[in-house]
Amino acid sequence: MKKILTGLQPTGTITLGNYIGAIKQMVKNQNEYDSYLFIADMHAITVKQDPIVLHENIKNLLAIYLACDIDPQKNTIFIQSENEYHTNISWMLECNTSYGELTRMTQFKDKSRKNEKFTAGLLTYPVLMAADILTYDVDYVPVGIDQKQHVELARDIAINFNKTYGNTFKIPEPLITETGTKIMDLINPTKKMSKSSENQNGVIRILDSEEEIRSKIMRATTDSDNQIKFDIENKPGISNLINIYSALAEISIKDTEQKFSNYSYAEFKKAVADIVVEKLMNIQEKYNKIINSKELDDILDNGIKVAKKEAKEKYELMKEKMGLGR
Ligand code: TYM
Repeated sequence: MKKILTGLQPTGTITLGNYIGAIKQMVKNQNEYDSYLFIADMHAITVKQDPIVLHENIKNLLAIYLACDIDPQKNTIFIQSENEYHTNISWMLECNTSYGELTRMTQFKDKSRKNEKFTAGLLTYPVLMAADILTYDVDYVPVGIDQKQHVELARDIAINFNKTYGNTFKIPEPLITETGTKIMDLINPTKKMSKSSENQNGVIRILDSEEEIRSKIMRATTDSDNQIKFDIENKPGISNLINIYSALAEISIKDTEQKFSNYSYAEFKKAVADIVVEKLMNIQEKYNKIINSKELDDILDNGIKVAKKEAKEKYELMKEKMGLGR
């Protein structure tokens, strides 16, 4: 059976972009693939976190996974920091990755520019991500397009390692959805919808209230030509709303355009708000039921057992190939 794996950072409530880019794809594929889904808490600490808030967010993210229909029977679900092999493997990979490759990563360039006191972890972040992926010999990595470059780096690292030490890793591929590869900010639709956006009116969170969702979508930036047409260059706002609708309704961009061809922008926005509200209210209902359930711990206990066993094998193999230990 082929394998898929992805992780999300537990830094605040996830956005509609995270849901469409990563979680929804995992749900869609969980019947066909051996699926691994983890909480990337070690990645979260590459920037400053309040420990109490981070701890709370980890548990909340797990409950969100389940509320979004991630099936714990079909997924190995675990917390990254509970599997210490990831960081051990990451170190071995770091010693086989050039500094230049890391400084060329777009996300590193952006984030280090914004904070001159950035940590060394921010630079090596993609290598830890490569370790997360390569440890389990996965075939596909469902991610939003913003993480594609990191998955490609993981491929390069694997190819290079295999060349140097002999066959050790499977070469993974990013799995990017046809629609909704990048959900954009509602206020500034040329920028990615991001948890850290300055104006939170542009960002829909999975646990936003119905009122917040409707108000954010109705106020989304559009243009003045009143045509529901997908054209990212000239109509980024409307294209983003088409993307959101098409991803949630699971119909193509073309069919979405056709369905709403006679609608005004206000009517179309209402239809987008309706489908987002329907989806998220359903998720929230499930979330509220499970957030305090003991089942959450059991799921993590089972997941880490499976993940650790596999990771240990890969770690031992790498040590042997690299000549480490006795
Ligand atoms: P993170 O936590 O920033 O984002 C989680 C996932 O959500 C996707 N995403 C989006 N997709 C569509 N539109 C958006 N606006 C949007 N914003 C975010 C991201 O592409 C991602 O798939 N480094 C990763 C976490 C990670 C990981 C891994 C992922 C750590 N190790 C190994 C895959 C495999 C990250 O920070 O994602």
